[in-house]
Amino acid sequence: MTLPTALSLGSLVISPPVILAPMAGVTTLVMRRVCERAGAGASFTEMVSSAAAFRSVPSALALFERGLPDKPYAVQIVGADPHEMGYTAHLAAERGAEWIDINMGCPAKDIIRSGSGAAMMRDPGRAAAVVRSVRASAPGRIPVTVKIRAGWDDASLNAPDFARRMVDAGACGVTVHGRTRAQVFTGRSNPEHIARVVQAVSVPVIANGDVDSAQAAVELVERTGAAGVMIGRASWGNPWLFSACRAAFLGEPPPPPPDAAARFAAMRAYFDEVLAAQPDRPHDLKVTEIQKNLAWISSSLPGGRVFRNRIFRTSTADALRTLIDELERTTEQPA
Ligand SMILES: Cc1cc2nc3c(=O)[nH]c(=O)nc-3n(C[C@H](O)[C@H](O)[C@H](O)COP(=O)(O)O)c2cc1C
Repeated sequence: MTLPTALSLGSLVISPPVILAPMAGVTTLVMRRVCERAGAGASFTEMVSSAAAFRSVPSALALFERGLPDKPYAVQIVGADPHEMGYTAHLAAERGAEWIDINMGCPAKDIIRSGSGAAMMRDPGRAAAVVRSVRASAPGRIPVTVKIRAGWDDASLNAPDFARRMVDAGACGVTVHGRTRAQVFTGRSNPEHIARVVQAVSVPVIANGDVDSAQAAVELVERTGAAGVMIGRASWGNPWLFSACRAAFLGEPPPPPPDAAARFAAMRAYFDEVLAAQPDRPHDLKVTEIQKNLAWISSSLPGGRVFRNRIFRTSTADALRTLIDELERTTEQPA
């Protein structure tokens, strides 16, 4: 099978067809830019709650941020009220969004309780009304897609039928995570569930679940016939995964894996970028983001475990910088 080099949604072209998954609390503006720079074809904002956006809650509106200027500005929204979702899609479009995705897969209890996220898969009528409202509220050139799971549980694996109904309502693409809501993140994502959706709809399908290497990304596309892949957890502290995927999909030689020097450079760049970006963002959120990412990027370095314990007990930017310098010295001259 020839691998796709790009994914087209209407007039939007995403190349390579390898996308950073939306992850609340993780895919901050800097994380998205870092992964896009490394080679991701696109990335999403963290999900924007339509209930909060409708009420102009500042923390929700602050999530509307574009990643790199040469990548699609993709926004994910979540909610169960068609009117609020339409309003939020309109708001996103006003702010320049070029792609709107609707979250129909989140398993979190508070999201489910409000009837949104994966709960949508148990109420296809409402889900279709949400898609219709979002489609009608965003200019026609903006693709509207849905992100779903295999189904609610093993007794209701309705992804193919559900996807068809969302396409009929106006979705021009579907991302499928091959787990059920009941699985949350346990067990394995099943590519067969994704392949069944590919067979059921005529729009591009993006395969998602457990991709942790370029080879796994290629195999998932080959096995399912999907038009692209989406990567979540394996991207944590690993933007190089996108460089490797990019090379694989565009037929270029694989880049070398990151050595210690590349990891330290990435830690410092991350650090500086988080501090410089979004001047209005609270400083403590920035420190938390830096701590998390330093921990992930250092995970394979000798001394990484002690380093991680220390960074979470350190709350100033200067002290964190000193810890990076210390780890680098000990990495260069192992005792
Ligand atoms: C911390 C975390 C936050 C997530 N937040 C979202 C979200 O906001 N919207 C969404 O559609 N999926 C969300 N997901 C699911 C991911 O987008 C993705 O579907 C899932 O992690 C499976 O892909 P993976 O195996 O590559 O991680 C989240 C997952 C994690 C681990």
